[in-house]
Amino acid sequence: MVVFGARGDLAKRLLVPSLYNLAHAGLLDDKFHILGFDHGDCSEPEYRKQMGDFLKEMASDPNSEFGKAKIDAKTWKWLEERISYQRGDFEDPTSFTALAQRVEAIGGKGPSAVFYLAVAPRFFGDVADNLGKAGMAAEPRGGFRRLVVEKPFGADLASARSLNARLLKTFAEPQIYRIDHFLGKETVRNLMVTRFGNGVFEPLWNRLHVDSVQITAAETLGVEDRGGYYDSAGALRDMIPNHLFQLLALTAMEAPNSLDADAVRAERTRAIEAIKVPSAKEAKADGVRGQYQAGEAGGRKLIGYRASPKVDRKSRTETFAALKLYIDNWRWAGVPFYLRTGKAMSARDTEVAIRFKGAPHALFGGVTANTLVLQIQPDEGISLEFEAKEPGPEVVAQTVRMAFLYRDWFQHEPSTGYETLLYDCLTGDQTLFKRADEIEYAWRAVDPFLTAWKTGEPDMYHAGSDGPASAAALLKRDGWAWRPVGHD
Ligand code: BG6
Repeated sequence: MVVFGARGDLAKRLLVPSLYNLAHAGLLDDKFHILGFDHGDCSEPEYRKQMGDFLKEMASDPNSEFGKAKIDAKTWKWLEERISYQRGDFEDPTSFTALAQRVEAIGGKGPSAVFYLAVAPRFFGDVADNLGKAGMAAEPRGGFRRLVVEKPFGADLASARSLNARLLKTFAEPQIYRIDHFLGKETVRNLMVTRFGNGVFEPLWNRLHVDSVQITAAETLGVEDRGGYYDSAGALRDMIPNHLFQLLALTAMEAPNSLDADAVRAERTRAIEAIKVPSAKEAKADGVRGQYQAGEAGGRKLIGYRASPKVDRKSRTETFAALKLYIDNWRWAGVPFYLRTGKAMSARDTEVAIRFKGAPHALFGGVTANTLVLQIQPDEGISLEFEAKEPGPEVVAQTVRMAFLYRDWFQHEPSTGYETLLYDCLTGDQTLFKRADEIEYAWRAVDPFLTAWKTGEPDMYHAGSDGPASAAALLKRDGWAWRPVGHD
């Protein structure tokens, strides 16, 4: 595995720890090797030490992505012996000639290789082109060459299209693994099992019984030290066409014919393709953006977004986005999908809430609606809200909740969420990776909002709140309200 951007945050925080977990589980081949490639000078022993030290540091921090209590010395030694480093320039073809030689020196003639682009997006195209020029994209007889591309994949439809076209000049679609780390989350993967592994939910899973769907991804963290990237991206680009649309696709898609990668990807893509592209007028009316001001979120004091490092003091970038979308197909016609995501909110809460239509006749007072909540994080689980009779002589209905929590049923080894993705890429399973058109349909659906937000200002909200008042108004207009963030 050649890791471009080997000294960056992603490699340190997620790739090496995940590869360690895979090694510990005995899932890496004895001939597996990591070749780190980056532009900084660093000796090989120094690189190995840096990776090892960081792994240990993360292991002692319960809040890190890794969160594991102890590093097994034997496993780390096994992995460490398989780590090399090479200095090179992402834009310089001669660096890639040297790289090709190094790959053969390590792996013998024509080894299988995964090229992992853990680099800033502006280098994606150059690295792919240079791999092609150095003859590294061509698959050796009996082996493979794969390219893993991180997000952000483009910044709008036009740039995503041109990036796809550029990568596809050198690599074929079956060689390209476009990552969306949400697809590696256990609870996200469980969405399909819940829907299609049970008989009880699917008959109700359509416009005849579902009133509306709310998809939330709220974080208490602010922009922290990512202002440089975030200020040009914003909440919509950062979260919606990728992570939230994957939740939407898994909620809305038809059952695939089989669990083959092609079958699953085809259905996910069809769901995203069916998202109604809003007109300019609709985009103005059906999208709300916000930006956080100073406050307290997640038990920490946060400075306002505009005061954060590397953020323009007059920035108009949104840190909160809420959209109302429709899926134009037989199953979902007329059912609103409300999506929202934000930084510096009152709680960390990622969930899909399906709100069913009420009973046809209100025998017990007001109209009631049952809600099925698929809780992605934290406290992963599924709950169903329904009416029950309050004890006592009078018949009074009250909403109660039936809840399943993952941790009550399964023992789960700590993981970063990248293990499955890396393993699937090494074994050639593209199910959890996005197809070129899947990405383009997603950008097509959000482009009108990006255009609508080119002018005007985001609505302000205090860090630690549930977003701007205008977000509540978006639902109120339709007679709904958002579920309180972090509600359980
Ligand atoms: C990333 C975004 O892709 O996803 C971040 O760039 C965001 O801004 C993160 O915080 C959320 O992922 P998770 O797994 O923490 O919910």
